[in-house]
Amino acid sequence: MSTQDLKRAAAARAVALVTDGMRLGLGTGSTAAFFVELLGARVRQGLAVIGVPTSEATRAAAQAAGIPLTTLDETPELDLTVDGADEIDAGLRLVKGGGGALLREKIVAAASRRMVVIADGDKRVAVLGRFPLPIEVVPFGLGATRRAVEAALPRAGCAGALTLRQAADGSALVTDGGHLILDAHLGRIPDPDALAHALAAIPGVVEHGLFLGLATGAILASREPASFGEA
Ligand code: A5P
Repeated sequence: MSTQDLKRAAAARAVALVTDGMRLGLGTGSTAAFFVELLGARVRQGLAVIGVPTSEATRAAAQAAGIPLTTLDETPELDLTVDGADEIDAGLRLVKGGGGALLREKIVAAASRRMVVIADGDKRVAVLGRFPLPIEVVPFGLGATRRAVEAALPRAGCAGALTLRQAADGSALVTDGGHLILDAHLGRIPDPDALAHALAAIPGVVEHGLFLGLATGAILASREPASFGEA
């Protein structure tokens, strides 16, 4: 099975969790895109759901798939969010934001009673941090914010370089919210709670990709015969 097949298989398992009338958070990324596609097929067969997309890309995909959409203003409480992740540890702690949608993803996850992560098994790690941690910042005062983040890292037991995320054309990537992303290349995050608190205390930081205490379950598709881990 290719990685794409594993992602699709995890997405299919998550679609089976959806029941009539559910209010859904729709994640972003290649795995979540499979979920949106497969959910759309169920909707066309008569399943009644409404969804809040976590990015403009997911909004477009959901509309193309025929999934009725709503907003958190109209529908502030969701039953289930299904989203991908860049890393997941044994405590269901996540690094997210590889696709740049971490802010809306976190707002939607926080508004959901349940958040189920779908991913291929390679996303499972013993210690978070191998994947660069996205930190969303406002453009104003970027240099000062960057220095504040650099100063905060050692206080949380972390070390590593920050890079400004670029778009395909080489310009700075601008998120759906009009912000920039600093990727922190840390290697390991020994105390995710300490780092999350330190980053949240910096005024120019809008959000970061540590999702702690948000995921309630995970469907990880692996190549081994017992191919799904569910928590
Ligand atoms: C989007 O901002 C991310 O949080 C994605 O959910 C994450 O990067 C996983 O993406 P893939 O499913 O494409 O691996």
